[in-house]
Amino acid sequence: MAGSRTRVTTLSIDVGGTGLKASVLDERGRMLVDRVRVETPVGSPPGVVVTALRRLVAPLPHYHRVSVGFPGVVRDGVVRTAPNLGHTGWQGYDLARALQRALGRPVRVINDADMQGLAAIRGKGLELVLTLGTGFGSALYIHGRLAPHLELAHVPFRKGETFEQQLGNAARKQAGARAWNRRVRKALDVLFTLTQYDRAYLGGGNSKHLQGKLPRNTSIVPNEKGILGGIHLWREGVAL
Ligand code: BGC
Repeated sequence: MAGSRTRVTTLSIDVGGTGLKASVLDERGRMLVDRVRVETPVGSPPGVVVTALRRLVAPLPHYHRVSVGFPGVVRDGVVRTAPNLGHTGWQGYDLARALQRALGRPVRVINDADMQGLAAIRGKGLELVLTLGTGFGSALYIHGRLAPHLELAHVPFRKGETFEQQLGNAARKQAGARAWNRRVRKALDVLFTLTQYDRAYLGGGNSKHLQGKLPRNTSIVPNEKGILGGIHLWREGVAL
């Protein structure tokens, strides 16, 4: 019928180490409804998480496709690592297929930091995105194009510990706000030396604990970008 063009809507899911969050985005990537959230059933097999997601999204408006940000390494919809979800069943789990069956719509899955960054960056030059949450997420983009997934979390950083051991949520609580803030600056220094990035973005739930002035070319991104990034997974040429 003339004028009744179907508007494509996207269910966007952010799987976190603490919460599972979701909303539906319109064609332009705006949230149609407030985000819904439940605690992540950490330690449960993947099937339990898929069921929790199916229940979580059941009351949401209609959607045509599904985007998922996942807290680990994902290739072609298959999970390779899930360090903060506490179950060995994740390794090799085809999350895209399982969700496609559970929700009956096409599904794309990508690393959570990669997805959040797609909504945060400007699309110019070399941009680095770090997410400070339960874990430590990292992503790199050149002129808006996602680089092959940059997994810094488990790489040595300082004092014989990895980035995540020094900057994850457990470390923040243990070290206290001042020391954790110093470490964030140190991480930015190290990563500038490594990449010579033009801009850095700090996201994730713990970015609210950042204090004082941030280095030049660094900005904080609102946590809702974790969901908003979902619209970009359906752009042509995004490396999944
Ligand atoms: C994982 C990353 C993930 C980050 C944030 C880390 O433990 O290895 O892949 O992006 O946590 O969730």
